[in-house]
Amino acid sequence: MQNSIIVTGGAGFIGSNFIHRWIEMEDASVINLDKLTYAGNLASLQAVTESPRYQFVHGDICDQESVRRLLETHAPRAIVHFAAESHVDRSIHGPAEFVRTNIEGTFKLLEEARRYCESLAPVARERFRFLHVSTDEVYGSLEPQGPGFCETTPYAPNSPYSASKAASDHLVRAYHHTYRLSTLTTNCSNNYGPYQFPEKLIPLMILNALQGAALPVYGDGEHRRDWLYVVDHCDAIRAVLVKGQPGQTYNIGGEQEMSNIEVVNIICEVLDKLRPAARSYSKLVQFVKDRPGHDRRYAMNISKIRRELGWEPKESFKSGIRKTVEWYLANPQWVSGVTSGSYRDWIKKQYQGASN
Ligand code: NAD
Ligand code: DAU
Repeated sequence: MQNSIIVTGGAGFIGSNFIHRWIEMEDASVINLDKLTYAGNLASLQAVTESPRYQFVHGDICDQESVRRLLETHAPRAIVHFAAESHVDRSIHGPAEFVRTNIEGTFKLLEEARRYCESLAPVARERFRFLHVSTDEVYGSLEPQGPGFCETTPYAPNSPYSASKAASDHLVRAYHHTYRLSTLTTNCSNNYGPYQFPEKLIPLMILNALQGAALPVYGDGEHRRDWLYVVDHCDAIRAVLVKGQPGQTYNIGGEQEMSNIEVVNIICEVLDKLRPAARSYSKLVQFVKDRPGHDRRYAMNISKIRRELGWEPKESFKSGIRKTVEWYLANPQWVSGVTSGSYRDWIKKQYQGASN
């Protein structure tokens, strides 16, 4: 067994940030298996392409034979599994791809990880880890004043996306329980930061504002999310990989719960300072038709990871959002690369005729 790790979905938002952080902080190599869907972007990895410790492999996690060959070739000590269809609105328009990648893909990876582990000597098998990156959305929606989700909160997924992630979490749990595969599951709240595809709230608002386009806030804008700067998430995953107990799940969050309208107004304030326009960007806010089945509130209780692994978020929303806006302003080339024809088609499909 080598010291390398395999990351799936490393050309996406969190995966690419994770690879940057890995190369910066660790000595081991990383192999990135990614299908390069609309959300995968090799431009997000330009800074590590030349590193001798980084390798890209174009492939699909649902292609079991290729996954098997990859494991045989690289004999990794861990798989960190990010690859997924990740956007709730797209799961409402077309759930099939979510079932395929998130459930079937995770199943095939688990099967190959199990087979690979069975071929290892006991010490190497003991050391191997399968880390599954999941979401707080599997827990459903919180009451306005209730406590945050903890690891024992019952699953109650409400969208095709969260249902597919919940199914994959259950498979991971079963592979630990039945086959003793050394799995770890992380359930994280909303991430934001560099390299996020602008279908998600924060980059969409930044880029629309810069173009003078409407800022479409769903429903009454009072839905609440717990925001975490992506680099903090990457550090939490590294901590779980090293110190997490096999078979356990860890909730990760930023303890920065806010309503969507608060988030959008803060983005506008930051832009008003960094890129002043004739009038405040907040004048562009438009309340639009709500997302079907829209979860009202998420918040994370992170006492377990704080207590057991000593991880906690470093970035506040105020500091993280400023870094994020600065990053989008400083990277117009990356932005124009992802706002191509197919992106414009998505925006049309999702927002045309959406106004209240
Ligand atoms: P993303 O959509 O930005 O990236 C997904 C990546 O997976 C892309 O590079 C894509 O090409 C790749 N991919 C998709 N299908 C594939 C397949 N069949 N085979 C190989 N690669 C494939 O997603 P993200 O926001 O970076 O999220 C990464 C993971 O973290 C997901 O599992 C998601 O559920 C989870 N998560 C995301 C957030 C968030 O706020 N973004 C929060 C908690 C958990
Ligand atoms: O909670 C973790 C999850 O966070 C991850 O598992 C998902 O992969 C990730 O996409 C994210 O899901 P959300 O649905 O919470 O993120 P999104 O950025 O799509 O939306 C955040 C909130 O903003 C949500 O309440 C919907 C709202 N919204 C979103 C968009 C795109 C708007 O009001 N307007 C918009 O145009």
